[in-house]
Amino acid sequence: MKKFVLAAAAVLFVLPAVQAADDPVAARKAIMQSVAASAGLSGGLMKGDIAYSPAAGKAAIASLNAAALSYGSFFPEGSDMAANTTASPKIWEDAAGFAEALAKFSAVTGAAAQASGKDGPADVDAFKAAMGPVLASCKSCHEAYRVQR
Ligand code: HEC
Repeated sequence: MKKFVLAAAAVLFVLPAVQAADDPVAARKAIMQSVAASAGLSGGLMKGDIAYSPAAGKAAIASLNAAALSYGSFFPEGSDMAANTTASPKIWEDAAGFAEALAKFSAVTGAAAQASGKDGPADVDAFKAAMGPVLASCKSCHEAYRVQR
């Protein structure tokens, strides 16, 4: 019990630091790994390699939507210089354009979440229709705002 109280107090205390992200590059890479995992799950469901279920479809869509809504918080000025990032300097040079790409990502994942309803898209065709625009958004953002290292 005492441990729990201490832990809870510690959580309250560090919250502002967490919001600023101690390691924003690691955080944004982890978010994209989760995005890629959800895209992989989606591909498997669409091709029939994984048996479709509304719950699985909903899990993929919900995690993509959460990623889209939080992703923009992990790009502090200067973090394009990190050794292990593929974020392009263009993210900061063209901040308005990157904000637009983020807004588009949120809009398409939000629409998919809306379409998936409480229980997830009812069948694989409904899932494909909801996910199409989401999967199409990866490439355009990467082409504009990612560099190869
Ligand atoms: C709004 C822009 C944007 C969208 C949309 C986007 N990405 Fe990314 N993605 C990035 C950026 C920027 C990076 C580089 C992050 C870094 O290295 O700091 C990245 C990195 C990645 C990585 C590498 C992560 C790592 O560990 O280095 C993967 C995998 C990835 N994205 C997959 C996807 C997939 C799949 C989608 C579509 C479902 C997608 N991304 C949509 C901007 C985007």
